Amino acid sequence: MNYPNEIIKCLYERASVRSFTNQEVTKETLRTIIDAGCHAATGGNLQPYTIIEIRSKEKKEALMATGCMQSIVRNAPVSLLFCIDWHRIEKWAKINHAPHVLLESYRHFWIAFQDTIIAAQNICTATDSLGLGSVYLGTVESCFDELRPMFNLPNGVFPVVIVSLGYPNKLPEIAPKLLYDEIVHHESYQTIDADTIDKMMTKKYGNKKSAPLTEKNLLKLYKASKEVHGEDYANASITYAKELGHIHPAQRYFGLHYVANEIRQGNKEFLDSIRLAGFDWINGTSY
Ligand SMILES: Cc1cc2nc3c(=O)[nH]c(=O)nc-3n(C[C@H](O)[C@H](O)[C@H](O)COP(=O)(O)O)c2cc1C
Repeated sequence: MNYPNEIIKCLYERASVRSFTNQEVTKETLRTIIDAGCHAATGGNLQPYTIIEIRSKEKKEALMATGCMQSIVRNAPVSLLFCIDWHRIEKWAKINHAPHVLLESYRHFWIAFQDTIIAAQNICTATDSLGLGSVYLGTVESCFDELRPMFNLPNGVFPVVIVSLGYPNKLPEIAPKLLYDEIVHHESYQTIDADTIDKMMTKKYGNKKSAPLTEKNLLKLYKASKEVHGEDYANASITYAKELGHIHPAQRYFGLHYVANEIRQGNKEFLDSIRLAGFDWINGTSY
């Protein structure tokens, strides 16, 4: 493809990097990357986020010990923990006698979540542009509460995601994506029939995301389907997979990977973690 400029090339050719060389990411390089990321758009130009730079063996091992991290964290030279941070701004508001409801407002949380991720993505693009690579690690959501004492997170600071980065060991494969024709609807939402969606997703994944028909996989799929939709649905899931000769990518995604019954059970813990971080809006106060 003839790219119109280097930025478009960088965006088209990006891919998550999960294996890094030992090459050091210098302080200067990381500063350039992070400063570039912090130039991102942010609601009201408030930047309600903090990034914790993790390089020490001790902190990497503490993260590994939570059981919710892949070994990427151990092997990457640098990992960045992105946190929503209203703590800093609340202190600024208080000292200047401004009214402050930053931890009582869902709107503030919603905006800060977006701001944090937008900065993270700018940082990932800056990383790619310098010939390094990165990967998001969303599994922090399985150990929110353990991260609080580990990183001294005060009230109003909530961990969102880790980005591990470094120099790539090998160039990663570019994953197929849905693009303009599939993603854009013109002027209003257009409902698409299930067959068209299925074709679109098959074109995207092929059989790459399917899973083998092992006893273990079938049992897991059956259990997840039964718990959320009942026995008939579970039996139909298994029959479908057996007829296909493999676990369908959609079944793998929601029956084996993001396991439907476990994901649903996690809702309460998720909300409790937000409450534990001092966000009072979660208690549903109405004014
Ligand atoms: C919010 C978020 C969380 C992610 N969490 C993980 C993760 O825990 N482990 C991992 O290996 N990749 C993770 N990824 C990377 C995705 O798996 C990856 O972006 C996706 O497979 C598409 O591949 P690509 O980035 O190479 O285009 C995450 C990506 C995002 C945006």
